[in-house]
This record gives sequence, structure tokens and C-alpha cells, in this order.
Amino acid sequence: MSEQQHKFVLDESEMPTHWYNVVPDLPAPPPPPLHPGTREPVGPDDLAPLFPIELILQEVSQEQYVEIPEAVRDVYKQWRPSPLFRAHRLEQKLGTPARIYYKYEGVSPVGSHKLNTAAPQVYYNSLHGIRRLTTETGAGQWGTALSYACALFGIECEVWQVGTSYDTKPQRRTLIEVFGGQVHRSPSRMTQSGQAFPEDHPGTLGIAISEAVEVAAQADDTKYSLGSVLNHVLMHQTIIGEEALRQLAKAGESSVDLVVGCAGGGSNFAGLAFPFLREKLAGTQDPTILAVEPTSCPTITRGQYRYDFGDTAGLTPLMKMYTLGHQFVPSTIHAGGLRYHGMAPLVSHAVDLGLIEGRALHQRECFEAAVEFARTEGVVAAPESSHAVAQVRREALACKETGEEKVIVLGLSGHGLLELGAYADFLEDHLADDPLSEDSLQAALAHVPTV
Ligand SMILES: Cc1ncc(COP(=O)(O)O)c(C=O)c1O
Repeated sequence: MSEQQHKFVLDESEMPTHWYNVVPDLPAPPPPPLHPGTREPVGPDDLAPLFPIELILQEVSQEQYVEIPEAVRDVYKQWRPSPLFRAHRLEQKLGTPARIYYKYEGVSPVGSHKLNTAAPQVYYNSLHGIRRLTTETGAGQWGTALSYACALFGIECEVWQVGTSYDTKPQRRTLIEVFGGQVHRSPSRMTQSGQAFPEDHPGTLGIAISEAVEVAAQADDTKYSLGSVLNHVLMHQTIIGEEALRQLAKAGESSVDLVVGCAGGGSNFAGLAFPFLREKLAGTQDPTILAVEPTSCPTITRGQYRYDFGDTAGLTPLMKMYTLGHQFVPSTIHAGGLRYHGMAPLVSHAVDLGLIEGRALHQRECFEAAVEFARTEGVVAAPESSHAVAQVRREALACKETGEEKVIVLGLSGHGLLELGAYADFLEDHLADDPLSEDSLQAALAHVPTV
């Protein structure tokens, strides 16, 4: 067997020093968020009750690059630069001539990409003497990341966890508590937004966001933190793609054909994809860029591109995005982090411009591909990440048919070692596919406000 290189690593000193902001490079400016009351574009003052000024400025930034603060880089260095692997064994198993690389974010202390934005968000809040941060969590990965980041910077963390995930993943709750966070089942009885639903409601990310925003808006010493969707969150994640580009160069790949990530709110996907999109727009590379979502929550592939609320109660600004309607209640599939009714406005805008495409997959196919991935590469992917794994498998098998030696980059956003219950359901054949019916989709879309 010839000597093969399996992983491409960067030294700490080679870690990117700046995040990338795609906005100034896009061929058309993204539509602005609108105030939920006046329906005028929101200004910094509207966001000030929820976010520190640094994040508000990043949200509207026109700068192509924003420097990563020293204190944040110091946190990143605990696990960054994260490795880029060449999936030789998977390629061999599939019999594909494609070259598959995966950028693995599961090496972070909390097991996912979410710490890339939790660290800077908490850091900026810490500069203003904020006592407490509130947030939502779906699968639990975001709550875990924020809880750990809060522990690092001495801030309290209060998490509203989507009901189904709270009920089925007690270990995730424990992990958040180990890091010092406090967890509430959402819908809770503590907020008006939660009280609008029965206590045993399965919950949605939209409801959990409403609860966390409501609490933050009512206390001066408390701010809110969002784990996806917003421009600044996506920008913090671009360190993934910036590192991947450097690592691919080390692997001798000067251009890639396909970039694939899973998309819930869009942050890990954009974090990997936007630096490649920069290269595409500059004409130096021409990758096809795919965002993969579940068929049961098909925001890009079946939603509408229009203004909608980011939360169920309608407390957030109206954002122009692909949406299934802010009252949409997705089925209780295992990829909790992909059960969100909307998609990041920047990802939505890029889809609308024809720069990015969506794909939707059933969860059984995703787990099947993830099990194969585990048995070849040794990594148990998070159920969210398994959507990207399954799409890459499809693409690699297509290359087998055509003989194309495509270079494929897969975003592996996290590990699934706390999601083994989902894997057990799959292995024991208890997992069902649950596509969204046209009637349910139309009923949910009927609640989208007319702007
Ligand atoms: C491991 C993992 N991947 C992906 C996602 C989806 O979020 P996003 O689309 O913002 O990356 C989540 C969300 O919880 C997650 O935990």
C-alpha cells in the first residue's frame, strides 16, 4: 500500500486571524431586517436591548474581514485549527474516484462547531459587565457551547431547551449543567411566550427563542445569544472555511468541485461555504455549494423566500429568508438542530442569487450513510452532520458512475456521541421517515405575515 496522508493540520500559529464577511462580495446587497412593529429597517438602537454593540456592528458590517480578538483566539486554540481529513477508507468502500475531504468540528471541547461563535459572543458581552445570557437550544449542542463559553468568561447562562430534546436527551441537559448553565424545558411556565402553549407541547426552536428573547428584553443585566441564523454568527463560523482552504492547499488541491454542509439555521454550512463562495465569486474556483436539510423540515427546498419572524411569538425583527412559517412545528426527527422553520438571511439570499443550492434528505438515508462513515472513518457524526455525509455519499457514488475525480469537501459539524439513542433507533429499525405533507406546509405558510 502506498503511503497515504490522512489528515492535514495547521499549526496554532497558522490559525486565521480574521473572520470573513461575505456581504461586500455579493453581487447584490441582502435585504435588511425590518422592525416587527413599524416594518422599517431595524437600526442599532432596536437591537441594543439584546446584543452588545460589537455584535450589532458586525451584524451590519460592510468590511470584508473582521479581526478575531486576542482573547477569542486564545480560546479557539484549545482545539483550533481543527483537522481536515481525507476519507480514504470511505472512498475505498464506495469505490469512488472522487477525493473526499472532511473538515471535522467535533474536536471542540463541546463536540461541535457551535463554540466558534459562543466564545466571541460571550467575550463581547463580558466587556460590558453583562451578568447573564439567555438562549434557546434544539439538539442541545448550542446550549452546551454557550454554557462552556459563559464558564470561561464568568457569565451566567440560562437555556430554554426544546421540549422533545429535553425529554429524550437528559444527558445533554446534564452536560449543560456540568458547564454551569441552567436548563428549562420549553415551552416553560416562566414566560408569556411559553404559557401560550400547553406544558407538554413538544416545543420548537421558534418557541424557545421567544422565551429566551422575552427574558433578556426585560432585564438590564441580561442579554440574549443566538446560535445561528444572524450575520455575525455566520461570520464567526467562517474560520472553518478559511482553515479548510489552507489545508486543501497543503493537500495539493488548488480547487474543489463540491462543498457540502448540513443546514439548520445555516451557520456551520455558511462557515464552511462562504470562504469558498468568495473564491467562486472571484473566479479562482468554481465549486457547486450544497446546503442539505431534512425532508421533514425542508426550508430551502420547499419554503418561500419572504419576510418572516425568527421566532414563534413574533418578537424578533422580520427577516427575508426561506421560511416554512414561524408557526411551523416540525416532526420530532432526531436531527434536532435542523428543526428550524427559517434559514439564515445570508444563506437564503445566496440561494436566491443562484450561488448555493438546497437538497433535502430523509433521516433513514442519513443514518445509513452515517453508520457507513463510522465503520470506515471511525467518526460517529451528529445526526445533523449525517445529512451532509449522506449527500456526499450520493455525489461520490455518482462519480463512480461517471468516472469523475471530483474534489469534495464535507462539513462535519459535530460528533454524535451523545445522540446514540438516535443511532440505536436506526439500528433497531425503529426510525421512520416523516416527509412534510403539502397540506401541513400550506397551513404553516398561511401564518407568514404579508410585508
Ligand atoms: C452538530 C450540529 N450541526 C448542525 C447544526 C445546525 O445548525 P446550523 O445550521 O446553524 O449549523 C446543529 C444545531 O444544533 C448542530 O448541533
